[in-house]
Amino acid sequence: MSSAIVFTEYGGPEVLRLVAAEPPAPAEGQVRVRVRAAGLQPADSLLRSGRFRAFMPARFPQRLGNELAGVVDAVGPGVAEFQIGQEVLGPAAAPGAHADHALADATQLVTKPSGLAWSEAGALSASGQTAATCLYDLGVEEGDTVLIHGAAGGVGSMAVQIAVAQGARVVGTASERNHQFLRDIGAVPVRYGPGLAERVREAVELAGVAGARVDAAFDTAGTDDALAASVELVTDVTRIGTVAAGADVERYGIRRMSTRRSAGQLRELVELAEAGKLRVFVQRAFGLEQAREAYKELDGGHVRGKLVFLMS
Ligand SMILES: NC(=O)c1ccc[n+]([C@@H]2O[C@H](COP(=O)([O-])OP(=O)(O)OC[C@H]3O[C@@H](n4cnc5c(N)ncnc54)[C@H](OP(=O)(O)O)[C@@H]3O)[C@@H](O)[C@H]2O)c1
Repeated sequence: MSSAIVFTEYGGPEVLRLVAAEPPAPAEGQVRVRVRAAGLQPADSLLRSGRFRAFMPARFPQRLGNELAGVVDAVGPGVAEFQIGQEVLGPAAAPGAHADHALADATQLVTKPSGLAWSEAGALSASGQTAATCLYDLGVEEGDTVLIHGAAGGVGSMAVQIAVAQGARVVGTASERNHQFLRDIGAVPVRYGPGLAERVREAVELAGVAGARVDAAFDTAGTDDALAASVELVTDVTRIGTVAAGADVERYGIRRMSTRRSAGQLRELVELAEAGKLRVFVQRAFGLEQAREAYKELDGGHVRGKLVFLMS
């Protein structure tokens, strides 16, 4: 038997239950993974609360969790890439990674390097691939100055590090308790809230950028402060984008961005991690039996880096 977090009605973290279930059987092209670690994302909360209902209705009993790392323990028909016993990481085939066993499409997985901790490997793929896709689509390259809103969060902290690795200069927004963290990962920290554009301008000037130029803005916070400052600072509106669920893109005429996932892109992120240029900062690891506590912390909206379920 296996355990899985499920919910059978929409609501807060209190609707979550840990239930015993048969391990799922892999279909064509899939493997089953004995999950060792699985990250949490705001999208998991949106599905659980019903806010995703129009876009992705729950199928009760609904499972959660889109990213994982673990050991392949069953292989479906037509899978040549992986064998039982291999350590892998990547996206789950459908929400369900917050469980002892989950299914994944073999073409989306990559081998987990032995030097990467389980907790980091299980929380890398979703936020990492979102950050990488968005920076690419915003044309971020060496020499650019990039403003990243929500820079201490899951997507933001990975976006900062990827942009820095690409040779960009990064200004990141966060509350003051996260400013040293942002410096540590290579960003110039700026406090969010009213007056943001002026503070960013000062920070960019202090960093010695001619004309206090900001070339692109990537938003993960979705607030009016963040979006208004972005359009004030970045001349080319096509280089402003957001992934934040609540962002009013019509009002500001900016891009709503989405994720593309591929094993090739994930392998590049794993290589960055192996080279010490991309860390997955795990604020806290939980057991599956602590699901309600974990989701309560996620819903608070102030996670530094990532939260993760860690199984033995
Ligand atoms: N995770 C993914 O893979 C993914 C994929 C697609 C879309 N998205 C969307 O992207 C958004 C961010 O996701 P995430 O996983 O990065 O979330 P997250 O990790 O939960 O974000 C938490 C961070 O947000 C910061 N924050 C809170 N209020 C802020 C504000 N007003 N201005 C700037 N920063 C603020 C917090 O910093 P302080 O504590 O310093 O305030 C905290 O570090 C969500 O809307 C999510 O649905 C995420």
